[in-house]
This record gives sequence, structure tokens and C-alpha cells, in this order.
Amino acid sequence: MHFNLLTLFPEMFPGPLGLSISGRALEEKKWSFTAIQIRDHAHDKHKTVDDTPFGGGAGMVMRADVIEGALLSLPDRGRVIYMSPRGRVLNQQLVEELAATPTLTILCGRYEGVDQRVLDAHDIEEVSIGDYVLSGGEPAALIVMDACIRLLHGVMGNDETVNEESFSNGLLEYPHYTRPAEWVDANGVLRAVPDVLRGGNHAEINKWRQKQSLDLTQSRRPDLIKR
Ligand code: ADE
Repeated sequence: MHFNLLTLFPEMFPGPLGLSISGRALEEKKWSFTAIQIRDHAHDKHKTVDDTPFGGGAGMVMRADVIEGALLSLPDRGRVIYMSPRGRVLNQQLVEELAATPTLTILCGRYEGVDQRVLDAHDIEEVSIGDYVLSGGEPAALIVMDACIRLLHGVMGNDETVNEESFSNGLLEYPHYTRPAEWVDANGVLRAVPDVLRGGNHAEINKWRQKQSLDLTQSRRPDLIKR
């Protein structure tokens, strides 16, 4: 999978994605990226990328012509998204859709955002990572990328890890335990791993995990059960 990032801060990429599982996958060429400096597509000698909003108001707006220049410089744009709190809220279903695209172009805004006309002219989909406001689209793009990369074939060691986790079946994941089987915490409380997990009866273990998943989802995220 290839990611194109249109940004005023190309140094933010690959950032944390250069480490750990995504970092190894990058070395193994399971994914790649091109970070385009939007400023390189400014027309004037001051390399202006933004201007004051028509109608007045706070902040600056990124210019449509400059962003379009950056967009058209790409040999293959693939699916194009713009990170914005106004967008379709990211969930695992959308991640799966995006991860199935060979090329994903992500426009990262700064300031008050981008001139609406460039989004309209190129049918750019807006995607939000949640109901809060970041200072720019780059951290949101890194989140989209991380969620996609871990779904690419051969990136996670074990495909079951991807299938069993939270949201892959629409529910939250059951709790996990490892050694020691009995642990005394700093308050002197003995905390033992549930017996069923130590009994070796896999049918019972699966039943217990499914119930934990369902109970956890019911109490923490009833909205997911309804869905
Ligand atoms: N840019 C600023 N806030 C954002 C959000 N919540 N999601 C995506 N992009 C953003």
C-alpha cells in the first residue's frame, strides 16, 4: 500500500510509524509513502500557502490553487481523503475500506482548514478521527495509516490477532492474562487468573471469552450492540 501525504510538515512522516511493527513493515516494503511539501507548490516568491478568510473571522485558510498544484503533482492519487473534524468518523469498517486501496492520498490541513473549493473540485472525502479538534491533520493521518498498515497482509505476525481483537467482530475484546497465575499487587491483594483460562478446556475458554466480550460491550459501549 502506498500513502501520499500532502502536508506543510513532511518531517512528521513516518514519525512513530518508522518504529515497531509498522517500521519493520516499511523496511520490508509492505507499505511506502511520499510526503509532499505543499509549500513547494506556492506560486509567489514568499511561498504563500494561506490567506485570510473571505467574510472575516479568525485564522488563515489554505489556498485552493496551491493545494491543487500539490495534488496534481502526484503521478497516482488513488483515493483522496482530507483529515477534518467535519468528516465521516473513522471506524474499523472505514479502515478496512481504506486499507483495501493500493494508493491513499491524505491531505493534512493546518490553520482554520482549506478552501472549500479544492475539496469540491476534486471530490475529496473528509475523514475525522473523532469528536475533538487537533491543531493539524498530520496526527490524524498517522492514525489512519497505522490502522491500515496493521491490516496489510503479513504485517501482523498472526492473522488471528487481527481477527480476534476489538471491533473485528463488532464487539470489544475479552480481557487478557499472562504469568504469574497468582500475583499480589502493591496493596497486598491476591489477584489470580480466572480458573477457566488455566483449565485447558478450549470450548469452555471460548464460551467464557465470548461472554466477557458481550458483557464488556454491553456495559461500556451499548451503542455497538445496537449496531
Ligand atoms: N484535524 C483536526 N481535528 C481533526 C480530527 N478530529 N480528525 C481529523 N482531522 C482533524
